[in-house]
Parts: sequence; structure tokens; C-alpha cells
Amino acid sequence: MDSLRLGSIKLEGQGNSEESERAYPRDFSSQGCFTDKAAYGRRRAFCARVGRGIHAREIRILRISVIGCGYVGLVTGACFAEIGHDVTCTDNDESKIVTLRAGKLPIYEPHLDALVTKNVREGRLHFMSNPGEAVRSSEAVFICVGTPPLENGDADLSAIDNVARMIATEGGSPKLVVEKSTVPAQTGQELKRALGVYSRKSGANFTVASNPEFLREGTAVTDFLHPDRIVIGVDDDTAAKKLREIYAPILDRKFKCPAHQDKCPAAAAPVFVTTTVNSAELIKHASNSFLAVKISFANALADMCDQLGADVQEVTAAVGMDPRIGPQFLQAGLGFGGFCLPKDVQAFIRLAERVGIDFTLLKAAEQVNRQRVELLLAKARKALWVLKGKKIGLLGLAFKPNTDDIRFSPAIEAAKRFIAEGATLHAFDPQAMEKTRKALPQILLAKNPYEAVKDADAAIVATEWDEFRNLDWKRVYNEMARPLVIDARNFLNPAEMKALGFEYYSFGR
Ligand code: UGA
Repeated sequence: MDSLRLGSIKLEGQGNSEESERAYPRDFSSQGCFTDKAAYGRRRAFCARVGRGIHAREIRILRISVIGCGYVGLVTGACFAEIGHDVTCTDNDESKIVTLRAGKLPIYEPHLDALVTKNVREGRLHFMSNPGEAVRSSEAVFICVGTPPLENGDADLSAIDNVARMIATEGGSPKLVVEKSTVPAQTGQELKRALGVYSRKSGANFTVASNPEFLREGTAVTDFLHPDRIVIGVDDDTAAKKLREIYAPILDRKFKCPAHQDKCPAAAAPVFVTTTVNSAELIKHASNSFLAVKISFANALADMCDQLGADVQEVTAAVGMDPRIGPQFLQAGLGFGGFCLPKDVQAFIRLAERVGIDFTLLKAAEQVNRQRVELLLAKARKALWVLKGKKIGLLGLAFKPNTDDIRFSPAIEAAKRFIAEGATLHAFDPQAMEKTRKALPQILLAKNPYEAVKDADAAIVATEWDEFRNLDWKRVYNEMARPLVIDARNFLNPAEMKALGFEYYSFGR
């Protein structure tokens, strides 16, 4: 594998893309290494199942514990198990462990269900409510706990502090502790210090590394197995070597891809980027913040297009053809939501303030984003005149398609605002109904999209699910009291909608 050092940053990889066009058979490197007899036994059983001898080329199997069974932790744990490691996932929410042990997932994420079931069945993936036990028996611990925003926008790092205390007091032997949760720069330093303080009595030694994730909900499994880069922030070569070993099957593409049936789409091989811990932490925040700026730029551009009679999609399509800009994350509409971009932007702004930098660019991106729901209401008011007493069919609740996640969802924010203005709202989402029912019982949920829009004065498309694109829109037209559609995600075809007879509005088109 090629390796390149730029200043203190080290890059490896960038193989040719032809290789990726086939599915990669699982293959094992020669240094088989087992931490105990049980692991050896499991490996032997595994090798027998995949039809290889134990002395065939082996990957080094590591015993890994993953703390936190949220989106990141579950995907990380299941994918590490899938590429051959022995993984134990733990969570302080006992009910999650009970659910997982019963063979159910607490979240919806494409491919994850099958991956968890298979790896539990094959003995590489375990769920445990006792974090101490999980950590004691592992060489590497991945921290994947939540870092939600505090009132002031700072990331709440108390869960990381609690985990540090637990690892230090219960971990026993030396281990590699990897922060995967999104955290502000310098958290690694604090984590290292905390581990030192909390392990004062036990005297155990811990190495801290940062390994930010770039998974997108809805495509997290494929993102994990086919990353464009794997970033690790380390203080020494031993930690780098261990992380390189953990990711070896992905870097060398030696695994059978569970997400793509025959062959994986062509792509360059992942780059293994080694940096300092501080830089790795910053890379994650900078990536999410840049994406947020890009989206807000497209949204501000859409508002210009509305005023100037241009079409934002024509504009962004041509702008994005410049390889220096790129076509992605220029989709205008209701703005960015979810548990990552909004909180990471806020935390980055706060971090900048703390070190005396006024990151006005980010503040503006955040402000543009906050105005999107308000703009939707303004469009609805303009079309419907008075919102009070009007019936609105809301299509979409999740913050984006292919997930059931409604955290900081612009669709939910819009729903709350319409209800507050006295409108009656009937909503439908292909996956997010259960979570909405629990979190916001005041939103009336329909059985299907047609029921949501029945006798409605307006239909609002708030999440761009394929299911909505493929609706029988003629039927929707017939069901509605007034055939008015506000496409807050700019994903339906305006000409087709108008040809069907709809009064159709979107953002900047
Ligand atoms: C985001 C990043 O894309 C991941 O790389 C990162 O790992 C993850 O956060 C994280 O920090 O864990 P995610 O929150 O799953 O991933 O979703 P995105 O696909 O980034 O979308 C975020 C929001 O932006 C959604 O509400 C989406 O609808 C919106 N968006 C996205 C737009 O409004 N326009 C676009 O062009 C793209």
C-alpha cells in the first residue's frame, strides 16, 4: 500500500478503482493472533464456516468493545464484527440491550438488521449491559456515546467523562481507548487526563486515539464499509498500528460486502489518514460545518432565485459541475436537521468563541438554516391566507429519507409551527411514525400518504422519500380538498405537478 506523509499528516491508500468493481472475498493476513483460547475457538469455527483453514491467511482478530448502542455504536459494532473482529456492544440504557438481545433493533438503518442478526448468530457480536465486563475483555474500546447540545450550544461531554471513569476503574489492563463520538477539538487531551486521574489507584495505562466517523444515517453501513477516508488521530505509532489492523479488511477490501449483492460500486480505495488527536477531532467538526455552509449557501441562493425568477436547481447543477465545488450538498429546501449537523455547527461556533475567534460564516449558515421553516410557513400563509382551521397533509417526518430519526428534524419543527397556528395536521412517514407517536403525540398520524392528504387544503412534502416521488399523484389530486402542494424538498417535477393540475410551490424554482 502506498504511503505519503504531508507535514505531520500521513496518507495511505488510493488504490485503483477497478479493484472495487468486484465483491471482495474475505481473506486473512498471515499473523493470526488470539487473545485467548475462546477467541481462537471462535476464529476456528468462523474459518470452518467460510471454508478456510485456521492457518490460511488470517486477519488479526481483535477483541473490541463499543460503548453506546446508538446509530454510530451499533453500525460500528456490527461492521467490525462483519469484517471478522470479536465485538461486544454495551449501553447504559438497559432497555436497548434487552431489545438487541431479543433480536430487535432500537433504530431503523438499512442493512443493519441483517448484519446484527448474522453476526450475533455467528458468535462475533455480543450485547452486554455490564460495561466493565465488556471493557475488561477487550484490547480496544470505542466510545460511541451521545454528545448532545447544552443550552448554550456547547457539546455535553458528561457521557464521555462517565465512560472515562468506568474504563479507568474497571478496565484493568492497558488498552487503546478510541473516541468515535463527535467531540470538540482537545477532548482527547481531556479524556487522556481524565483516564489518568481516574486510574490513579488501579495504575492501569491507557492510550487515547480519535477516530471520527463520517457515516450518514440511511447509508451508514455502506459508508462504514466503503469509506472515502479513515481518519485516525494518534500520539504514537503503536496506536496507529492497532487501528490500521482493526481497519485492515476495509482498507485492503478483504471482506464480503453484505450491502451489495454482486459487486460494489466503483470507487477509489479508502485513504488511511493519520494525524494528531487534535487535528482528527477538528477534521470531523470542520467536515460537518463545511457541509452545513454548503447547504445554507444553496438555500440563500434559492431565496435569490425566488426573487429573480431563476431556477435554483439549474443554477446549482451548473455551479456543481466545477470540480472545485462539486454537486453534492447543494440541494435547497427545508434545510439541514438531524442529530449531527445542527449540533456540530453550534459546538464549532462555541469552540471558536472560546478561543477568541468570531466564526461569523458559521453563524450565518446557522441563521439561514433557522429561517427555512419560517419561510415554509410564509409560503403556506401566502397560498392559504389563514392557517387556522386549515387541514394540512404532511408527507415526511424524519430529518431525511431512509431513517426513522426525527431529532432536530425540520419536518417536525414545521409540524409544531403549523399546529401552533391552529392548522390541523395529518402526517405520514414510511419509518418515523413510531418515534413521532412517542415524542409528539399531538401530531395526528395517518395510515398512509393518501389518508394524510384526504380532504386537505394543502399537502407539504417535508422529507424526500422515494415513496413520495412514486405516489399516485392523480389519486392525491382527487383526495385533496384543494390540490395545493408545497414541495419543501424541491424533489418533485414542477412541470409534471402543474400538468396534473396542482397549484405547486417549492423553494427557488
Ligand atoms: C452528517 C454527515 O453527512 C456525515 O458525514 C456525518 O458522519 C454525520 O452527519 C455525523 O456527524 O454523524 P447525517 O446527519 O446522517 O450525516 O445526514 P446528512 O446526509 O449530512 O444530512 C443532514 C441534513 O442536511 C438533512 O436534514 C438533509 O436533508 C439536509 N441536506 C443535505 C440538505 O438540506 N441539502 C443537501 O444538499 C444535503
